[in-house]
Amino acid sequence: MRIKRLTIFLLALSILFIWIVSTYIFFPTRAFNNEMGKMKHIMKQLDELEGGVSQIMGANKNILHEMASEYDLRIEKIKKATEKEISQDEKLKKLQKSFNGGPVIPVIVFACNRITVIRCLDQLIQYRPDPRQFPIIVSQDCNDLQTKNAINTNYGDKLTLIEQPDQSDIQVPPKEKKFKGYFKIARHYGWALNQTFFKYNFDTAIIVEDDLDIAPDFFEYFVGTYYLLKHDPTLWCISAWNDNGKSNLVDMENGASKLYRTDFFPGLGWMLTKELWTELAPKWPKAYWDDWIRRPEQRKDRACIRPEISRTRTFGKYGVSNGLFYEKHLKYIQLNDKFVPFSKMDLTYLLKNYYDEPFLKEVYDNSIEVSYHNLRTLVLPEKQSIRIPYTKETYKKAARAVGLMDDFKSGVPRTGYRGIITFHWNGRTAYLAPPRNWNGYDPSWS
Ligand code: UD1
Ligand code: MN
Repeated sequence: MRIKRLTIFLLALSILFIWIVSTYIFFPTRAFNNEMGKMKHIMKQLDELEGGVSQIMGANKNILHEMASEYDLRIEKIKKATEKEISQDEKLKKLQKSFNGGPVIPVIVFACNRITVIRCLDQLIQYRPDPRQFPIIVSQDCNDLQTKNAINTNYGDKLTLIEQPDQSDIQVPPKEKKFKGYFKIARHYGWALNQTFFKYNFDTAIIVEDDLDIAPDFFEYFVGTYYLLKHDPTLWCISAWNDNGKSNLVDMENGASKLYRTDFFPGLGWMLTKELWTELAPKWPKAYWDDWIRRPEQRKDRACIRPEISRTRTFGKYGVSNGLFYEKHLKYIQLNDKFVPFSKMDLTYLLKNYYDEPFLKEVYDNSIEVSYHNLRTLVLPEKQSIRIPYTKETYKKAARAVGLMDDFKSGVPRTGYRGIITFHWNGRTAYLAPPRNWNGYDPSWS
C-alpha cells in the first residue's frame, strides 16, 4: 500500500516534472520564436526606414545646397542692384547745378509701358545742346520690362533711368475704377518730382511725357524764358504747348517767335521751379493732377508762358484717356520747325509789369470789334486786329465759330489771359474777349 502510494506519488511527480519541463522548453520557445519573428520584421522595417531616411536626407542635402547657392545668387543680385542704385544716385546728386554760368535743367521724361518712348528720347537727344546742361532723367512707372530694355539698350550713359518703386495696387472708389490710370500717373509724378527736387536737389526741371514730339528749339525756348520764371512771381510755369495751336489758328509764317502769357495751365512739356514743387508737394493729389493744379487754390492767379506755335506735339493716341480727344483735337496741333534764338532775344515784355497794360490797350483800343456772326461776311482792312466779344451765354458759340477750344477748367478758357483768348485769324491777330470791365474767372463756367 505504501509502495503503491509511493508509485502514484512518483508518477505524479514525474508528470509534473515533464509538464514543467515541457512548458518550460516548449512554450517559451514558441513565444520566443514568435518574438524573434516580430523582431526580424521590425529590423527589416527599421532597415527600410533607415534607407528611406538616408534617401530623404540625401535629397534634402541637395535641396539645401541648391537653396544656398540660389540665396548667394540673390544676395549677389541685390548687392549689385544696390550698388548700381547708389552709384546712380551719387551720379545724379553730383550733376553740376550750373553750366557756363547758366542753370542746369534736368528733363524728366515720364514713361510707363510704351516703347515708343524712344521716339521722344531720340528727339530730346538729337536737339539737346549739351548733356551737361540738360541731363535727361527717364522716370519709369509700371515695371514694364520691354520698355525698360528699350531705354537701357538704346542710350547708354546719354540718360539716367530711375524706376518708381511703388507698384502696389491703388484702392480706387468703385465709380472711378476706369480712371485708375490717373491715380497711377499722379502717384508717379509725386514720387519723381520729390526725387528731382528733394533728393537730387535740382532747382528747376522740365517735364516731358513719353508720347511727345519735340521741336528743334525746345531747349532754346526754355533757356530763353528761364529768367522770366525765376524773376516774375506771377509766373509759375513755362509751357511748350499751345492748346489752340492748330494750323488755321496760328501764324505759321511769322508766329514762331511769338510768346504769350496764359492763365490756363497747358502742361505738355513744361518747366517748374523747386520753389513751386515745395509748395505743391505736401498737398499733391491722388489723381487728376492736371485739373487739380488748375484750381484757384493752387494757381493763385499765376500764369504760364506759352508759344504761338507749339514746341511739343503728342503722338499718344492710345493712353490713359480715350483716343477720341486725340482724333478730334490733339493730332491737329502744329509742331514748330523753325529755330528761334530765344536766349538772345529780349523777352522782358512778358513780365507782368510790362505785359498787361499794352496788351489790354491793344485788345480794347487798337482792334476792331466784330461779332462772331459777321466774321465771314465782313471785309476788314488787311492785318487789322479784331476783337470778338463774348459773354457767358455766347462764349461757346463764338469759340466754335472760329475753331477754338470751347471748354473751361476752373472757369478758365484754354489759352485765356485775363479772359482774353489770342489767336490768328485769316492773316490777322484776333482776340476773343469779355467786356472791358472783366474782373476775374468764374469757376462755375464749364
Ligand atoms: C492726360 C494728359 C497728361 C496728364 C495726365 C494726368 C493730355 C494730352 N495728357 O494723360 O498730360 O499727365 O492726363 O491727368 O492732356 N503713366 C504713368 N503711369 C501709368 C500710366 C501712364 O506714369 O500707370 C505716364 C505715361 O508714361 C505718360 C503720362 O503718364 O508719360 C500720361 O499718360 P498717357 O497715357 O499719355 O495719358 P493721357 O491721357 O495723355
Ligand atoms: Mn498722353
